[in-house]
Amino acid sequence: MVLKLAIVGCGGMAEAHLRAYTAIKQREPGKFEFAAMCDPVLASAEKFANIATQSQNFKPRVYKSVEDMLSKEALDAVDICTPHSEHHKAAIACLNAGADVMVEKPFGITVKASKAIIEAARKNNRIVAVAENVRRGLSQRTAYWIINERKMLGEPRLFFAQHAGWENPAEERVWHWRIEKMLGGGGMVMDSGAHFADMLRYLYGDPETVYARVTQFEKWPHKKRDKIVYDEREDTWIALITFKNGLICTWSWSIAAPGYSYTNVVHYGSKGCLLDHGDVFHGPFDNAEVIIQDGLKKVTYSMRTLEREFLESLDSERRRRLFPHGIMNGVFVECYDFLDAVENRRKPEVDGEEGLKAKAICEAIYESAYLGQPVNYRDVLEGRVEAYQKPINEYFGL
Ligand SMILES: NC(=O)c1ccc[n+]([C@@H]2O[C@H](COP(=O)([O-])OP(=O)(O)OC[C@H]3O[C@@H](n4cnc5c(N)ncnc54)[C@H](O)[C@@H]3O)[C@@H](O)[C@H]2O)c1
Repeated sequence: MVLKLAIVGCGGMAEAHLRAYTAIKQREPGKFEFAAMCDPVLASAEKFANIATQSQNFKPRVYKSVEDMLSKEALDAVDICTPHSEHHKAAIACLNAGADVMVEKPFGITVKASKAIIEAARKNNRIVAVAENVRRGLSQRTAYWIINERKMLGEPRLFFAQHAGWENPAEERVWHWRIEKMLGGGGMVMDSGAHFADMLRYLYGDPETVYARVTQFEKWPHKKRDKIVYDEREDTWIALITFKNGLICTWSWSIAAPGYSYTNVVHYGSKGCLLDHGDVFHGPFDNAEVIIQDGLKKVTYSMRTLEREFLESLDSERRRRLFPHGIMNGVFVECYDFLDAVENRRKPEVDGEEGLKAKAICEAIYESAYLGQPVNYRDVLEGRVEAYQKPINEYFGL
């Protein structure tokens, strides 16, 4: 059966998905067809439909609204790449119409919104995947192998991920949905932070407690038509996260730290560390190093070498599952995993529960900062602590 796929939200990230699906189609032409493209800005949906037409012999239909699309199409799979405020609305409508969905990170705008998506999937016996691309890259898969399979670092102990930088608040900026709390749900803690939260769980399992300060030191004016509006997102946070496995982690980020910038990301275990060289959201990167303390000596391994060894250690079945068609691009892999899960009625690697659990780490940071005290991760995950999220939930009638 050829799956009928639609993309909802034809913006920046969706274009990467469109490229990935096109690359899948080149390799497996009969796997799916682009049936529809949906965006309130019809020109964006048209642009996507025209690109999709280059890889099949008909043009996908275009729609301005999910409701209109669902009333006219019988879809199998819908890939949702809208602003965060629309994730749960679009996903629930599609699930109720009988389609399986993949939702971009962060899964729902709040924990409650995420749970509402999971509940709609359960009720309709449908699949929910979360488009989490970062953990699927080669260096991230290798990091999992280094820490959890080869156990090169020994027992996980400490983890520091710190970035202090400075951006010019006076620079002219143009309004975007991300700057409004009711559209984005929060700032970088849960935007790029969603990747980091997923990676933390992937590498280390569930957290136990979170204590954080989240603040905005500067005013960040944005031009919205003829008005100036202000960014509602944090420009700084410092979080202390403890994990069930004993790991203690500091995660911090600022764009309001003038004078000196640095980024420091190190995972320490009882035998050595993984020293990363990148940002505090998307690593570990290909240029990371593992440094093992051997008595007074230090032995260094490059991530590139370890990536090769990791690939050599994989049997053909696992290699095919992790890197279908030998491709190591995370967006390709997540789109492939989604289609394959739909086709074979199996759980995708990052399903709704995984998306929710990553989401709850980010919300625990906001909740702790809002309450001015440490929070228990499970209390946030299970909805007992939701003071920060309450106005958002009320706004959306959740
Ligand atoms: N995985 C990653 O690396 C990554 C990177 C960037 C963004 N994202 C995620 O992708 C999603 C989209 O972000 P973006 O940067 O592409 O934003 P964007 O603003 O570029 O695109 C969003 C699109 O959704 C459309 N839209 C708005 N409301 C809609 C609705 N109700 N129905 C259908 N379409 C609607 C907009 O018109 C726009 O075309 C977000 O969840 C974001 O966090 C992920």
